[in-house]
Amino acid sequence: MKVLLTGATGFVGREALRQLLAAGHGVRAVVRDPTRAPQDSSSAQGTDTPRRLIDAVYGNVLQPESLRGAAEGCDAVIHLVGIISEISEQTFENVHLNATNNVLAEAKRARVKRWIQMSALGTRPNAVSRYHQTKWSAEESVRASGLDWTVLRPSLIYGPEDHFVNLFAGMARWAPVLPVMGNGESLLQPVSVENVCRCFVGALAEPRSISQTMDVCGPDRLTFNQVLEAILNAMGKRRLKVHLPLSLGRIQAALLETIFPILLRKAAPLNRDQLLMLQEDNVGDARPAEEMFNLTQARFAEDIRRYLQQKAPCKQISQRAD
Ligand SMILES: NC(=O)c1ccc[n+]([C@@H]2O[C@H](COP(=O)([O-])OP(=O)(O)OC[C@H]3O[C@@H](n4cnc5c(N)ncnc54)[C@H](OP(=O)(O)O)[C@@H]3O)[C@@H](O)[C@H]2O)c1
Repeated sequence: MKVLLTGATGFVGREALRQLLAAGHGVRAVVRDPTRAPQDSSSAQGTDTPRRLIDAVYGNVLQPESLRGAAEGCDAVIHLVGIISEISEQTFENVHLNATNNVLAEAKRARVKRWIQMSALGTRPNAVSRYHQTKWSAEESVRASGLDWTVLRPSLIYGPEDHFVNLFAGMARWAPVLPVMGNGESLLQPVSVENVCRCFVGALAEPRSISQTMDVCGPDRLTFNQVLEAILNAMGKRRLKVHLPLSLGRIQAALLETIFPILLRKAAPLNRDQLLMLQEDNVGDARPAEEMFNLTQARFAEDIRRYLQQKAPCKQISQRAD
């Protein structure tokens, strides 16, 4: 199949691209920065894989005219683009809902039939966070599109280049304490990026996934505190967890939301919408996706060792006594 992939330069997108190529699909990646376009390294290495499995086209999913022609000749779309923090025109409404509508319009124009949508666990009508509200509206657009759609809703995704485990692991390397907003007792069900992408790539060849909205979560339901403990254990470290009142967290997040975009031209590393999400459980039903896509799930605490221990192998030994 020839697959139009959005978000190919991101954490999930890079693994999706790897698995799509490994499964023999051709990929057209929509990228907004041509210098970051993924390269077809398989052909350079002289393997049996046919050349030109990837082609990249410039496109900003917020600008419909930039997408014109992107889906031409494609059989399916995997739409991954999303944000966790807003900056300038990259609002939740724009990047989740309007962008989905823009890419859907291009898919329909090019008569692409198949669509796999990246959503998120916790997405529902009347969700408390704007992240989940806009993911819900995007899902509704996809379900009403008339295409052969599948909506996948992962929980927290982890993997060697993730944004969450690595953030806290990075803090634990230098900071004597780890900050936790609130009591840290909300539940998460982390899932590996490899398994998330197995679902996306597997769905292309699985007709039973058409018209399905499915949770994609791991085998463990862990509190935020337990997730932090697992990270520290994997690194062989001990750190004090400092629980900050949510009222203080909200003030801190509001400040970061103002300062980061103005001074650093970056989205804030913590925002008030994330705090809303952190206060609710984020768990789902792992079984339907496990069965449909033949997933083998590893335990979170064991699985993160493969990359947390690799990152600072020399330090691990001396840090055991921390
Ligand atoms: N990570 C998780 O734990 C998690 C959990 C559940 C659901 N999800 C969802 O999974 C998806 C991917 O997440 P991720 O962690 O891989 O995020 P990520 O690393 O931040 O990647 C986001 C991707 O979207 C692209 N993008 C953003 N705005 C764009 C625009 N206007 N036009 C074109 N491309 C644009 C980025 O391109 P650039 O490289 O140009 O910035 C990047 O390729 C998102 O929809 C997210 O909501 C993630």
